[in-house]
Parts: sequence; C-alpha cells; structure tokens
Amino acid sequence: MIKTLVAPEVLEWTNSLTLYNDKLDEQHKELFDLINQIITQERIEPMSEDFAIILSKISDYGLEHFKTEEKLMQDLNYPHLDKHRKEHREYLYHVALFNTNFKSKNYTEPAKVVKFVKGWWYWHIMMQDLDLANYIREKLID
Ligand SMILES: [Fe+2]
Ligand SMILES: [Fe+2]
Repeated sequence: MIKTLVAPEVLEWTNSLTLYNDKLDEQHKELFDLINQIITQERIEPMSEDFAIILSKISDYGLEHFKTEEKLMQDLNYPHLDKHRKEHREYLYHVALFNTNFKSKNYTEPAKVVKFVKGWWYWHIMMQDLDLANYIREKLID
C-alpha cells in the first residue's frame, strides 16, 4: 500500500532506526540526505534540472538499496520478504511514472513528488524496515 500519511518536515536518521546492519544504515542515511536535498530544492527552485537530477539519484540509490535489503532478507529467511519486496516494487512503479520534464504539459508537480518520496521512505522505514530490524535483532540475540 502506498502511504500518504504526514511525515516530518525533514528526515533525520536516529539510532532508533537502526537495522543492525552497517551497510543498510549507511544507505538509509544517504537516502535521508538525498530526500532532504530534494525538499530544499523544491523550496528554492522546483522546476529545475537540479530537481530532476536529485530525483534520479534517489531512484538509482533506492534501487541499489532495495537489492541490498532484499538480499539480506533472503539470507536471513525473513518471513515477510514477499510483502516487503512488493512494497519496494510498488514504490519503484510509482516513481517511474513521475514526469520531470517540466517543459512538457503533463509534468508532475514537484511538490507532489516530494510529498510522495518523503512520505514513502519515512513510513516504509518506520513500519516495514523496523519490522525487519526487530527480526534481525532477535536473530542476533539467539
Ligand atoms: Fe525496505
Ligand atoms: Fe530500507
């Protein structure tokens, strides 16, 4: 399900979001950084090439991150892998539909793009990724 709940103004990574995996934590921090960049860009110059460039970085980096995370879930026999992977796929599909060719008539409003990207990452990490984190933590204790 694509969440459209309210997310904070800017995203801040804290220890409460750890997945007990350095690589995944680093990727989440990097994603938060990119999302904060696009939030700022939307405020200063939304319909710009820079806006489109940051969005494409978020897409590329997100794809790389999903691969890392799904590989880990597979290696750990995480029971909710299918559901989690489905959310990643839905996100990629949604983002692929954004049109940042601001010279065309049917471009996607930058504010809409930011709202979706920020909200999706925030809520996905808070709900799905933290469920995975609990699973990893229990495995580590075992
Ligand atoms: Fe995830
Ligand atoms: Fe993640």
